[in-house]
Amino acid sequence: MQKKLFLFAIAFLLTPTLQGRMQKTITVLDKTFAVSIPREKIEARIKELGTKITKDYKDAEQPPIFIGVLRGAFMFLSDLVKEVDFPCEIDFLQVSSYEGTTQSTGTITLLKALKSDISGRDVIIVEDIIDTGLSIAYVKDMLQASNPKSIRIASLLDKKLSNLDFKIDYVGFEIAPEFVIGYGLDYNQLGRHLPDIYTLIK
Ligand code: IMP
Ligand code: MG
Repeated sequence: MQKKLFLFAIAFLLTPTLQGRMQKTITVLDKTFAVSIPREKIEARIKELGTKITKDYKDAEQPPIFIGVLRGAFMFLSDLVKEVDFPCEIDFLQVSSYEGTTQSTGTITLLKALKSDISGRDVIIVEDIIDTGLSIAYVKDMLQASNPKSIRIASLLDKKLSNLDFKIDYVGFEIAPEFVIGYGLDYNQLGRHLPDIYTLIK
């Protein structure tokens, strides 16, 4: 009887903690977000992607160049390359699309160009998220003009809204078409540092 009471008390005490963790929310400026992809899930999925990429490039003459699309992909790229089992080069470029809003502006501009010479090289573009697909189409077209040997794309998230005529080779998670922050993604430049991914709730 005493043991039962003890277990009941533990369960009673733990429930709010567990619920609090599962429904963890955060307020950024005027918006509230709830955790939708916890860090453990992100970590596990990136390990899988790293293993797949290692396998896909095991016979390549020269290791590929990972090209991160700033700023959103910085965290994904840094964790992804740790899971890849070959020496690789890294570079970054930056384009703009979302500016202080939760919706794509529809116009893409190049803010920071690539430093590396990618001609004849295998390239892996690393993106945080595919929403309308305009940014990735712009980046892919631009890189294609430098005559790389091949281009593949890794994106942590895909909202499955885009109508692209090429595939996203490595997708972390397919998500609902909702606005998300954390793990590199921002709302008005805030929230990029969060280790989990959060979805806008209000
Ligand atoms: P797209 O050009 O519409 O596909 O949007 C791509 C870029 O917009 C991404 O690389 C992100 O930087 C940003 N973006 C798209 N959706 C979100 C979101 O839900 N949260 C934060 N940034 C986003
Ligand atoms: Mg991006």
